[in-house]
Amino acid sequence: MTAPTHPPGRARTWKARIPSIVLIVLAIGIAAYAVPRYLTGNPDDSAVPLGPDPMLHYLVLTAHAAPAGLALILGPFQFITPLRTRFPRAHRVTGRIYMICIALGAMAGLVAATISVDGFSAQIAFYLLNLAWLYSLAQGFRHIRRGEVRLHRVWMIRNYALTFSAVTLRIFLVIGLMLRPTLGVEFTEIYSASVWASIFVNAVAAEYFIVTRIVTPALRRRRPQPSGPRGASVHVRVDQLDHPSAVEDLTVAGIHDPNR
Ligand code: HEM
Repeated sequence: MTAPTHPPGRARTWKARIPSIVLIVLAIGIAAYAVPRYLTGNPDDSAVPLGPDPMLHYLVLTAHAAPAGLALILGPFQFITPLRTRFPRAHRVTGRIYMICIALGAMAGLVAATISVDGFSAQIAFYLLNLAWLYSLAQGFRHIRRGEVRLHRVWMIRNYALTFSAVTLRIFLVIGLMLRPTLGVEFTEIYSASVWASIFVNAVAAEYFIVTRIVTPALRRRRPQPSGPRGASVHVRVDQLDHPSAVEDLTVAGIHDPNR
C-alpha cells in the first residue's frame, strides 16, 4: 500500500518501495501456493479436512479460493499511486473485478465456514471475517460512487488488509505447526489461534497505516483560516482522529484538499 509521503515530484526510493514489493511477493506467493490444489477437481488435493460429502465440500472451497486468490493478487496494484494516476481506467476495471471476486469469495466463504470441520472457534472467526470483508467492500464502493476518494481509499485499505489475512494466517500456521511439539496443543487449536491472530494483526496494521499515512498528514495540513464559509471551524476530537469522517470533515470544510 503506497502512500505519497515523499515530496511531490520526487521519485520514491527503492528503500521506500520495499514494503510494497514484499506485500506483492507474499500475495502472489500465497495465492500460487494455496489455490491451485483447488483447481484440479480432485478432493484428495484439499489441504483442509473435508466433511461427509468431500466432493461438495471441495467444490465450495474451489468457489471460494479461486476468486479470493485473484483478489489477493490484484489488490496491491490498486494501491500503487503512479499506476492509479497514469491508468485510471485500468484502476476502475481492476477494481470492479476485485469487488466481484470478493463478493463471490465471501459468499462461498460463508458456506465454507458453515461446513468447516476445523472447529467452532475458527468457524466464528471466519464468519466475522466474511462479514467485515463484505462490509468494508460495500463502504469502499459507496464512497467512490459519491466521489469521496479519500474515504474510498481508507475503506479499501481496510478491505485489502482483511484479504491479506489469508497470507498472515498461513504464516502464523507454519510458525504454530513448527512450535507444535513444544506447545503440545492440537492442530485445531493452532489453526483457530492463527485465524484469530491474523484478523487481529491485519486489522490493527490497517488502522495504524490509515492513522499515520492518511489522517495525521491531513490534520497536520490544517492551517488557520480566515472567516467565511471555507474558514468554518471543524471540531475533530482526539478520539475521532482514526475515524475516516475526520478526514472527510476536513475535506468538506475546505481545510484539506482531497486532490493533494
Ligand atoms: C478474508 C476473507 C476470507 C474468509 C472469511 C475466508 C474463509 C475461508 C473459510 C471459512 C475456509 C474454509 C476453512 C476450513 O474449512 O477450515 C477457507 C479456506 C480457504 N481459503 Fe479462505 N477466506 C478468506 C480469504 C481468502 C483469500 C484472500 C484466499 C486467497 C488465497 C483464500 C484462500 C483459501 C483457500 C485456498 C482455502 C482452502 C483451505 C486451504 O487450503 O488453506 N481465502 N477460507
